Amino acid sequence: MERTTEAGFSTLSDLEEVASKRVLEHVWAYVQGGAGEERTLGANRSAFRQWTFRPRTLVDVSRIDTNISLLGTMVRAPLFVSPMAYQGQVHPVGEPAVARAARDAGILAVYSTLSSFSIEEITRNSGSVPPWFQLYLQPDFEVSRRLVERAEKAGCSALMLTVDTPVLGVRDRQAPGGFAIDSTVPIGNGSDVVPPSRSPMEQGKFYRLRSEAGSTWDILEELLSITRLPWVVKGILTGDDARTAVHHGAKAVLVSNHGGRQLDGAPATLHALPEVVDAVGSEVEVYLDGGVRRGLDILVALALGAKAVGVGRPILWALGAGGEEGVRRYLDLLKLELATSMALVGRTTIAEVDRSLVAKTDI
Ligand SMILES: Cc1cc2nc3c(=O)[nH]c(=O)nc-3n(C[C@H](O)[C@H](O)[C@H](O)COP(=O)(O)O)c2cc1C
Repeated sequence: MERTTEAGFSTLSDLEEVASKRVLEHVWAYVQGGAGEERTLGANRSAFRQWTFRPRTLVDVSRIDTNISLLGTMVRAPLFVSPMAYQGQVHPVGEPAVARAARDAGILAVYSTLSSFSIEEITRNSGSVPPWFQLYLQPDFEVSRRLVERAEKAGCSALMLTVDTPVLGVRDRQAPGGFAIDSTVPIGNGSDVVPPSRSPMEQGKFYRLRSEAGSTWDILEELLSITRLPWVVKGILTGDDARTAVHHGAKAVLVSNHGGRQLDGAPATLHALPEVVDAVGSEVEVYLDGGVRRGLDILVALALGAKAVGVGRPILWALGAGGEEGVRRYLDLLKLELATSMALVGRTTIAEVDRSLVAKTDI
Protein backbone atom coordinates (compact mmCIF):
# COMPACT_ATOMS: atom_id res chain seq x y z
CA MET A 1 0.00 0.00 0.00
CA GLU A 2 2.33 2.73 -1.23
CA ARG A 3 -0.29 5.41 -0.75
CA THR A 4 -0.64 4.61 2.92
CA THR A 5 3.10 4.95 3.39
CA GLU A 6 3.18 8.33 1.65
CA ALA A 7 0.30 9.59 3.74
CA GLY A 8 2.04 8.34 6.89
CA PHE A 9 -1.11 6.81 8.42
CA SER A 10 -3.60 4.22 7.34
CA THR A 11 -6.85 4.74 9.25
CA LEU A 12 -8.77 7.54 10.93
CA SER A 13 -7.87 5.89 14.23
CA ASP A 14 -4.09 6.11 13.91
CA LEU A 15 -3.95 9.59 12.35
CA GLU A 16 -3.65 11.69 15.51
CA GLU A 17 -0.92 9.53 17.01
CA VAL A 18 1.15 9.46 13.82
CA ALA A 19 0.85 13.24 13.56
CA SER A 20 1.85 13.77 17.20
CA LYS A 21 5.19 12.14 16.43
CA ARG A 22 5.85 14.10 13.25
CA VAL A 23 4.88 17.65 14.16
CA LEU A 24 7.33 19.79 16.17
CA GLU A 25 6.45 19.90 19.84
CA HIS A 26 5.65 23.63 20.13
CA VAL A 27 3.56 23.54 16.94
CA TRP A 28 1.73 20.46 18.25
CA ALA A 29 0.87 22.38 21.46
CA TYR A 30 -0.50 25.20 19.30
CA VAL A 31 -2.61 22.83 17.21
CA GLN A 32 -3.95 20.70 20.04
CA GLY A 33 -4.43 23.25 22.78
CA GLY A 34 -7.74 24.59 24.00
CA ALA A 35 -8.64 27.35 26.40
CA GLY A 36 -8.50 27.04 30.20
CA GLU A 37 -8.99 23.53 31.51
CA GLU A 38 -10.00 22.39 28.03
CA ARG A 39 -13.51 21.48 29.21
CA THR A 40 -15.09 22.77 26.01
CA LEU A 41 -12.46 21.07 23.89
CA GLY A 42 -13.31 17.73 25.53
CA ALA A 43 -17.06 18.39 25.45
CA ASN A 44 -17.06 18.93 21.68
CA ARG A 45 -15.87 15.38 21.19
CA SER A 46 -17.82 13.64 23.93
CA ALA A 47 -21.09 15.21 22.70
CA PHE A 48 -20.93 12.96 19.64
CA ARG A 49 -20.75 9.89 21.85
CA GLN A 50 -24.14 10.73 23.36
CA TRP A 51 -25.93 9.86 20.15
CA THR A 52 -26.61 6.52 18.50
CA PHE A 53 -28.24 5.71 15.19
CA ARG A 54 -31.65 4.26 14.43
CA PRO A 55 -30.78 2.39 11.25
CA ARG A 56 -33.33 1.29 8.69
CA THR A 57 -32.64 -2.00 6.94
CA LEU A 58 -33.36 -3.56 3.56
CA VAL A 59 -33.35 -0.19 1.90
CA ASP A 60 -31.88 -0.14 -1.62
CA VAL A 61 -28.48 1.40 -0.88
CA SER A 62 -26.80 0.34 -4.10
CA ARG A 63 -26.25 4.03 -4.93
CA ILE A 64 -25.22 6.59 -2.33
CA ASP A 65 -25.21 10.27 -3.22
CA THR A 66 -23.40 12.61 -0.81
CA ASN A 67 -23.53 15.72 -3.03
CA ILE A 68 -25.10 18.91 -1.75
CA SER A 69 -24.98 22.60 -2.52
CA LEU A 70 -23.49 25.14 -0.08
CA LEU A 71 -24.46 28.75 -0.73
CA GLY A 72 -25.16 27.78 -4.31
CA THR A 73 -21.98 25.76 -5.01
CA MET A 74 -22.22 22.02 -5.60
CA VAL A 75 -19.83 20.02 -3.41
CA ARG A 76 -19.22 16.30 -3.24
CA ALA A 77 -19.81 15.98 0.50
CA PRO A 78 -21.44 18.05 3.26
CA LEU A 79 -18.12 18.97 4.83
CA PHE A 80 -15.51 21.68 4.59
CA VAL A 81 -12.07 22.48 5.93
CA SER A 82 -12.49 25.01 8.75
CA PRO A 83 -10.19 28.04 8.66
CA MET A 84 -6.95 27.46 10.52
CA ALA A 85 -4.01 29.81 10.80
CA TYR A 86 -0.33 29.12 10.07
CA GLN A 87 -0.61 25.83 8.19
CA GLY A 88 2.93 26.30 6.91
CA GLN A 89 4.12 25.71 10.48
CA VAL A 90 2.59 22.25 10.45
CA HIS A 91 4.15 21.30 7.11
CA PRO A 92 6.08 23.52 4.71
CA VAL A 93 3.63 22.81 1.86
CA GLY A 94 0.93 24.60 3.90
CA GLU A 95 -2.40 25.93 2.62
CA PRO A 96 -1.78 25.53 -1.14
CA ALA A 97 -1.42 21.78 -0.58
CA VAL A 98 -4.62 21.67 1.47
CA ALA A 99 -6.30 23.64 -1.32
CA ARG A 100 -5.24 21.13 -3.98
CA ALA A 101 -6.38 18.18 -1.87
CA ALA A 102 -9.75 19.83 -1.15
CA ARG A 103 -10.19 20.75 -4.82
CA ASP A 104 -9.56 17.17 -5.93
CA ALA A 105 -11.93 15.83 -3.26
CA GLY A 106 -14.58 18.25 -4.53
CA ILE A 107 -15.04 19.82 -1.12
CA LEU A 108 -14.96 23.34 0.15
CA ALA A 109 -12.16 24.84 2.24
CA VAL A 110 -12.00 28.08 4.17
CA TYR A 111 -8.69 29.93 4.59
CA SER A 112 -7.70 32.08 7.53
CA THR A 113 -6.70 35.74 7.55
CA LEU A 114 -3.58 34.36 9.24
CA SER A 115 -2.65 31.81 6.56
CA SER A 116 1.06 31.11 6.01
CA PHE A 117 0.61 31.70 2.25
CA SER A 118 -1.24 34.58 0.62
CA ILE A 119 -4.85 34.18 -0.45
CA GLU A 120 -3.68 34.64 -4.07
CA GLU A 121 -1.20 31.75 -3.76
CA ILE A 122 -3.84 29.54 -2.12
CA THR A 123 -6.54 30.14 -4.73
CA ARG A 124 -4.20 29.84 -7.73
CA ASN A 125 -5.38 26.36 -8.71
CA SER A 126 -8.98 26.40 -7.55
CA GLY A 127 -11.26 24.03 -9.38
CA SER A 128 -15.04 23.97 -9.51
CA VAL A 129 -15.34 24.64 -5.77
CA PRO A 130 -13.90 28.10 -5.08
CA PRO A 131 -12.48 28.55 -1.56
CA TRP A 132 -13.93 30.85 1.09
CA PHE A 133 -11.96 33.43 3.05
CA GLN A 134 -12.18 33.89 6.83
CA LEU A 135 -11.76 37.40 8.20
CA TYR A 136 -10.41 38.39 11.57
CA LEU A 137 -11.39 42.04 11.91
CA GLN A 138 -8.27 44.17 11.89
CA PRO A 139 -7.67 47.12 14.23
CA ASP A 140 -7.63 49.31 11.11
CA PHE A 141 -10.81 48.77 9.05
CA GLU A 142 -8.94 49.67 5.84
CA VAL A 143 -6.81 46.56 6.31
CA SER A 144 -9.97 44.45 6.64
CA ARG A 145 -11.38 46.11 3.53
CA ARG A 146 -8.27 45.35 1.50
CA LEU A 147 -8.33 41.70 2.62
CA VAL A 148 -11.96 41.37 1.56
CA GLU A 149 -11.23 42.95 -1.83
CA ARG A 150 -8.23 40.67 -2.36
CA ALA A 151 -10.25 37.55 -1.45
CA GLU A 152 -13.01 38.53 -3.87
CA LYS A 153 -10.49 39.25 -6.65
CA ALA A 154 -8.68 35.96 -5.96
CA GLY A 155 -11.90 34.07 -6.71
CA CYS A 156 -13.30 33.25 -3.27
CA SER A 157 -17.05 32.69 -3.44
CA ALA A 158 -17.98 33.56 0.17
CA LEU A 159 -16.53 35.25 3.22
CA MET A 160 -16.62 34.16 6.83
CA LEU A 161 -16.48 36.59 9.73
CA THR A 162 -15.21 35.06 12.97
CA VAL A 163 -17.03 36.68 15.89
CA ASP A 164 -15.83 34.65 18.87
CA THR A 165 -12.38 36.26 19.07
CA PRO A 166 -12.53 39.86 20.32
CA VAL A 167 -9.43 38.78 22.21
CA LEU A 168 -7.55 35.50 22.14
CA GLY A 169 -8.64 32.93 24.75
CA VAL A 170 -6.31 31.94 27.58
CA ARG A 171 -4.49 28.89 26.27
CA ASP A 172 -2.16 27.46 28.85
CA ARG A 173 -0.49 25.03 26.48
CA GLN A 174 0.65 28.05 24.48
CA ALA A 175 1.87 30.03 27.46
CA PRO A 176 4.88 32.32 26.91
CA GLY A 177 7.84 30.28 25.85
CA GLY A 178 5.60 28.17 23.65
CA PHE A 179 4.49 29.00 20.12
CA ALA A 180 5.49 32.59 19.40
CA ILE A 181 2.25 33.40 17.64
CA ASP A 182 2.33 37.17 17.91
CA SER A 183 5.77 38.00 16.69
CA THR A 184 7.91 35.56 14.80
CA VAL A 185 5.50 33.64 12.57
CA PRO A 186 5.12 35.22 9.14
CA ILE A 187 1.60 35.87 7.82
CA GLY A 188 1.15 35.15 4.12
CA ASN A 189 -1.35 37.95 3.59
CA GLY A 190 1.18 40.64 4.46
CA SER A 191 2.88 42.44 7.29
CA ASP A 192 -0.01 44.88 7.79
CA VAL A 193 -2.21 41.96 8.92
CA VAL A 194 -2.16 41.32 12.67
CA PRO A 195 -3.39 38.35 14.72
CA PRO A 196 -5.88 38.82 17.56
CA SER A 197 -4.03 39.80 20.70
CA ARG A 198 -3.88 37.62 23.79
CA SER A 199 -2.79 40.26 26.31
CA PRO A 200 -5.35 42.87 27.31
CA MET A 201 -3.58 45.86 28.75
CA GLU A 202 -4.84 47.32 32.00
CA GLN A 203 -5.21 51.07 31.99
CA GLY A 204 -6.84 52.68 34.95
CA LYS A 205 -10.21 51.05 35.68
CA PHE A 206 -10.50 49.12 32.38
CA TYR A 207 -8.68 46.44 30.54
CA ARG A 208 -7.98 47.88 27.11
CA LEU A 209 -8.36 45.55 24.16
CA ARG A 210 -7.52 46.47 20.59
CA SER A 211 -9.94 48.64 18.68
CA GLU A 212 -11.64 45.77 16.80
CA ALA A 213 -12.85 44.46 20.18
CA GLY A 214 -15.18 47.46 20.15
CA SER A 215 -17.04 46.11 17.09
CA THR A 216 -20.75 45.38 17.36
CA TRP A 217 -23.26 43.94 14.88
CA ASP A 218 -23.19 47.10 12.73
CA ILE A 219 -19.80 45.95 11.49
CA LEU A 220 -21.51 43.18 9.55
CA GLU A 221 -23.55 45.69 7.58
CA GLU A 222 -20.39 47.66 6.89
CA LEU A 223 -18.72 44.49 5.63
CA LEU A 224 -21.74 43.67 3.47
CA SER A 225 -21.47 47.07 1.85
CA ILE A 226 -17.90 46.54 0.61
CA THR A 227 -18.42 43.26 -1.28
CA ARG A 228 -20.98 41.41 -3.34
CA LEU A 229 -19.98 38.08 -1.74
CA PRO A 230 -22.20 36.45 0.90
CA TRP A 231 -21.07 36.46 4.55
CA VAL A 232 -21.07 33.48 6.89
CA VAL A 233 -20.86 34.32 10.59
CA LYS A 234 -18.61 31.91 12.52
CA GLY A 235 -18.75 31.43 16.26
CA ILE A 236 -22.49 31.43 16.98
CA LEU A 237 -23.70 29.42 20.01
CA THR A 238 -27.19 30.75 20.75
CA GLY A 239 -30.45 31.19 18.89
CA ASP A 240 -30.43 34.90 19.82
CA ASP A 241 -27.07 35.56 18.18
CA ALA A 242 -28.09 33.50 15.15
CA ARG A 243 -31.21 35.63 14.69
CA THR A 244 -29.19 38.81 15.10
CA ALA A 245 -26.63 37.65 12.53
CA VAL A 246 -29.38 36.90 10.03
CA HIS A 247 -31.12 40.19 10.79
CA HIS A 248 -27.86 41.98 9.93
CA GLY A 249 -27.51 40.14 6.63
CA ALA A 250 -25.62 36.88 7.23
CA LYS A 251 -26.38 34.24 4.61
CA ALA A 252 -25.23 31.37 6.84
CA VAL A 253 -24.09 30.81 10.42
CA LEU A 254 -21.43 28.43 11.69
CA VAL A 255 -22.08 27.00 15.14
CA SER A 256 -18.55 26.96 16.52
CA ASN A 257 -16.64 27.48 19.76
CA HIS A 258 -13.34 27.75 17.88
CA GLY A 259 -12.50 24.15 18.67
CA GLY A 260 -12.58 24.91 22.41
CA ARG A 261 -9.80 27.49 22.03
CA GLN A 262 -11.66 30.60 23.12
CA LEU A 263 -14.26 30.47 25.93
CA ASP A 264 -13.74 27.45 28.17
CA GLY A 265 -17.18 26.57 29.47
CA ALA A 266 -18.86 27.33 26.16
CA PRO A 267 -21.21 24.48 25.23
CA ALA A 268 -20.25 21.64 22.96
CA THR A 269 -21.26 22.74 19.49
CA LEU A 270 -23.43 19.67 18.99
CA HIS A 271 -25.46 20.73 22.06
CA ALA A 272 -25.80 24.30 20.80
CA LEU A 273 -26.80 23.24 17.28
CA PRO A 274 -30.53 22.45 17.73
CA GLU A 275 -31.26 25.86 19.31
CA VAL A 276 -29.59 27.63 16.38
CA VAL A 277 -31.34 25.44 13.82
CA ASP A 278 -34.70 26.17 15.47
CA ALA A 279 -33.96 29.91 15.40
CA VAL A 280 -32.75 30.39 11.82
CA GLY A 281 -32.55 27.02 10.07
CA SER A 282 -35.53 27.77 7.85
CA GLU A 283 -33.96 31.04 6.63
CA VAL A 284 -30.24 30.41 6.21
CA GLU A 285 -27.76 27.55 6.08
CA VAL A 286 -26.49 26.40 9.48
CA TYR A 287 -23.12 24.68 9.77
CA LEU A 288 -21.24 23.18 12.72
CA ASP A 289 -17.61 22.59 13.58
CA GLY A 290 -15.85 21.24 16.67
CA GLY A 291 -15.01 17.62 17.38
CA VAL A 292 -15.86 16.26 13.95
CA ARG A 293 -13.39 13.47 13.28
CA ARG A 294 -15.15 10.76 11.30
CA GLY A 295 -17.85 10.18 8.70
CA LEU A 296 -20.17 9.00 11.46
CA ASP A 297 -19.88 12.40 13.19
CA ILE A 298 -20.97 14.14 10.01
CA LEU A 299 -24.14 12.05 9.97
CA VAL A 300 -25.00 12.90 13.60
CA ALA A 301 -24.55 16.64 13.03
CA LEU A 302 -26.62 16.53 9.85
CA ALA A 303 -29.35 14.57 11.62
CA LEU A 304 -29.48 17.34 14.26
CA GLY A 305 -29.97 19.98 11.58
CA ALA A 306 -26.57 21.05 10.26
CA LYS A 307 -26.39 21.58 6.52
CA ALA A 308 -22.64 20.82 6.55
CA VAL A 309 -19.79 20.41 9.03
CA GLY A 310 -16.32 21.88 9.27
CA VAL A 311 -13.26 19.84 10.13
CA GLY A 312 -10.40 21.52 11.96
CA ARG A 313 -7.54 19.74 13.70
CA PRO A 314 -7.70 16.45 11.75
CA ILE A 315 -6.73 18.36 8.61
CA LEU A 316 -3.62 19.63 10.38
CA TRP A 317 -2.90 16.14 11.72
CA ALA A 318 -3.10 14.79 8.17
CA LEU A 319 -0.95 17.63 6.86
CA GLY A 320 1.63 17.01 9.56
CA ALA A 321 1.58 13.25 9.04
CA GLY A 322 1.90 13.21 5.28
CA GLY A 323 1.79 16.66 3.68
CA GLU A 324 -0.57 16.98 0.70
CA GLU A 325 -0.86 13.20 0.39
CA GLY A 326 -1.90 13.01 4.03
CA VAL A 327 -4.73 15.49 3.52
CA ARG A 328 -5.85 13.65 0.38
CA ARG A 329 -5.99 10.40 2.27
CA TYR A 330 -7.85 11.91 5.22
CA LEU A 331 -10.49 13.44 2.96
CA ASP A 332 -10.84 10.16 1.07
CA LEU A 333 -11.30 8.21 4.30
CA LEU A 334 -13.80 10.74 5.63
CA LYS A 335 -15.90 10.69 2.48
CA LEU A 336 -15.71 6.91 2.30
CA GLU A 337 -16.81 6.50 5.90
CA LEU A 338 -19.69 8.93 5.34
CA ALA A 339 -20.93 6.92 2.34
CA THR A 340 -20.41 3.61 4.15
CA SER A 341 -22.30 4.85 7.20
CA MET A 342 -25.17 6.10 5.03
CA ALA A 343 -25.46 2.63 3.51
CA LEU A 344 -25.47 1.08 6.99
CA VAL A 345 -28.24 3.36 8.28
CA GLY A 346 -30.31 3.02 5.11
CA ARG A 347 -30.11 6.58 3.80
CA THR A 348 -29.09 7.13 0.19
CA THR A 349 -29.07 10.92 -0.07
CA ILE A 350 -28.18 13.73 2.32
CA ALA A 351 -31.78 14.95 2.17
CA GLU A 352 -32.87 11.67 3.83
CA VAL A 353 -30.67 12.34 6.88
CA ASP A 354 -33.06 13.84 9.41
CA ARG A 355 -33.80 13.88 13.13
CA SER A 356 -35.37 10.40 12.99
CA LEU A 357 -31.90 8.96 12.34
CA VAL A 358 -30.49 9.53 15.85
CA ALA A 359 -31.42 8.94 19.47
CA LYS A 360 -29.78 10.18 22.64
CA THR A 361 -28.24 7.41 24.65
CA ASP A 362 -26.32 6.67 27.82
CA ILE A 363 -23.81 4.28 26.30
C1 LIG B 1 -4.50 25.36 15.00
C2 LIG B 1 -5.83 26.04 14.81
C3 LIG B 1 -5.86 27.30 14.23
C4 LIG B 1 -7.10 27.93 14.05
N1 LIG B 1 -7.12 29.15 13.43
C5 LIG B 1 -8.32 29.74 13.18
C6 LIG B 1 -8.37 30.95 12.45
O1 LIG B 1 -7.37 31.47 12.01
N2 LIG B 1 -9.60 31.49 12.25
C7 LIG B 1 -10.75 30.93 12.73
O2 LIG B 1 -11.84 31.46 12.52
N3 LIG B 1 -10.72 29.76 13.40
C8 LIG B 1 -9.54 29.16 13.64
N4 LIG B 1 -9.51 27.95 14.29
C9 LIG B 1 -10.77 27.29 14.68
C10 LIG B 1 -11.27 26.38 13.56
O3 LIG B 1 -11.74 27.12 12.46
C11 LIG B 1 -12.43 25.47 14.01
O4 LIG B 1 -13.46 26.27 14.55
C12 LIG B 1 -12.04 24.40 15.02
O5 LIG B 1 -10.73 23.93 14.80
C13 LIG B 1 -13.01 23.23 14.93
O6 LIG B 1 -12.77 22.28 15.91
P1 LIG B 1 -11.91 20.93 15.67
O7 LIG B 1 -10.48 21.34 15.65
O8 LIG B 1 -12.27 20.10 16.85
O9 LIG B 1 -12.36 20.31 14.36
C14 LIG B 1 -8.29 27.30 14.48
C15 LIG B 1 -8.22 26.03 15.06
C16 LIG B 1 -7.01 25.40 15.22
C17 LIG B 1 -6.98 24.01 15.82
